Amino acid sequence: MKTIVKDSPTSKVNRILPFLEKNYDNNLESDYTEKIEELDKNFNYKSNSNHYWSEPEQSVLYGTPLYQQASPSQKIALNHLHWVGFYKVVADSEIELTFYNTITADCLLAANKDYAFIADMLNHETYQERKHIHSFAKINYQTIKALLGTKALINSGSDNSTSFEPKSFHVTDYLLNTANFIGGIWLKDKEQNYSQKLIELQDLNKSISSSTPANPTSPTPTSGFFNGYLGNTNTSLRKFFPFSWGSYPFLAANFYVVRYMANIVVKNNEFEIHKYCRKLQKAKDFIPAPTAISHYHFLDEAFHTTTSLYLARDFYKSLPKPSKFEKLMANLAVLQTQRENLNGLSGMIPNRFVSDSNAITFIMKLLQSPVFDMSLQEAIHWLEKCLCYEHEGFHFNLKVHNHLLANMQRFAEDIDYLWPVNREMRLMADAGSIKKALNNNIKAFKNFSRTIEKN
Ligand SMILES: [Fe+2]
Ligand SMILES: [Fe+2]
Repeated sequence: MKTIVKDSPTSKVNRILPFLEKNYDNNLESDYTEKIEELDKNFNYKSNSNHYWSEPEQSVLYGTPLYQQASPSQKIALNHLHWVGFYKVVADSEIELTFYNTITADCLLAANKDYAFIADMLNHETYQERKHIHSFAKINYQTIKALLGTKALINSGSDNSTSFEPKSFHVTDYLLNTANFIGGIWLKDKEQNYSQKLIELQDLNKSISSSTPANPTSPTPTSGFFNGYLGNTNTSLRKFFPFSWGSYPFLAANFYVVRYMANIVVKNNEFEIHKYCRKLQKAKDFIPAPTAISHYHFLDEAFHTTTSLYLARDFYKSLPKPSKFEKLMANLAVLQTQRENLNGLSGMIPNRFVSDSNAITFIMKLLQSPVFDMSLQEAIHWLEKCLCYEHEGFHFNLKVHNHLLANMQRFAEDIDYLWPVNREMRLMADAGSIKKALNNNIKAFKNFSRTIEKN
């Protein structure tokens, strides 16, 4: 492990630490997490079932021809399913974060005792994430059970098909080979450090997974923003991210680039629910519990977003210059984040930026569930209409995409070690095309039809 030279009074890090401390103090003084806990404790789906939880634009299938002819009660169900689908991904991401916050905090603390308060702050954020995860899981459970039935819940543990589907893993051979090659050099160089860290990481992994009833002995597979980094670390490239983020202060800071990207993806959707909540408050209307939870989560996450921003954008500048290996790993992490989370444009699920091919199973289940009660043939007919033909849903989500892209680019342009493909978020930018989305969807639909015919 590298040793950080103690900062001079004029160094940039000393200008940043007070901002981080202030942010931590503000977080400690707030009571948003407690408010979420209270709402979680009293949540009952029935008492919230007749109300929109967010604007209609935040509904599954919004802008599709099927949405246009859906009944008022179906529209409310689609609105609730958007909430639970979105927060399933948020909860999965936050489960992954409980792991990454901890290893990066340990790494920074080991490098410099002055960073003890940063480790405390990250610890506190992890505590808050656990409360958030609990509330999302409870609402998800009751809502899916009420809308799609118990069968959907049984399946959701194994294939995730009641949530927005997990993204497929896309890493080119080039990246895998590069990481294997570099990792090989690194392991030889840092064997002792790596082994100690490995034991700690495995213990941590076990302790997190042991809280999951579905799979008590092996690491929990999650499908959040840091997709699979926690559970599926057997894939060559992925297994190096935990080790690099947890072992090098520069890379620990780089982790917060990825975390900030996740923060603004959440904010992109949640800010709209926060505004919706304010609108209800002003009109003295009933505020559904999930709307209020989103509102308080938005406020809680504002502290986390500030932490990510300072650690990602400013903090690394005070550290010793990164090696070529560190720069490579940092860039691969950001590139992979784009590939896994921002490489598509959904026309069926607003605020989702991965291919709709992964949502086919979910949509088919939804269409055949009590919400629509369609036959298999009807469901296939509507799936094709929503998936393969241009409609308002694509145009609406493209606007949301472009807003998020601008925020991503504004953030990344300040990080000087990023390659142009990352600084300009080129993979995400390229994916912002309705034509490309439709071409991918048509291919996915053909594959899906072939599978159905075989069965
Ligand atoms: Fe959270
Ligand atoms: Fe957070």
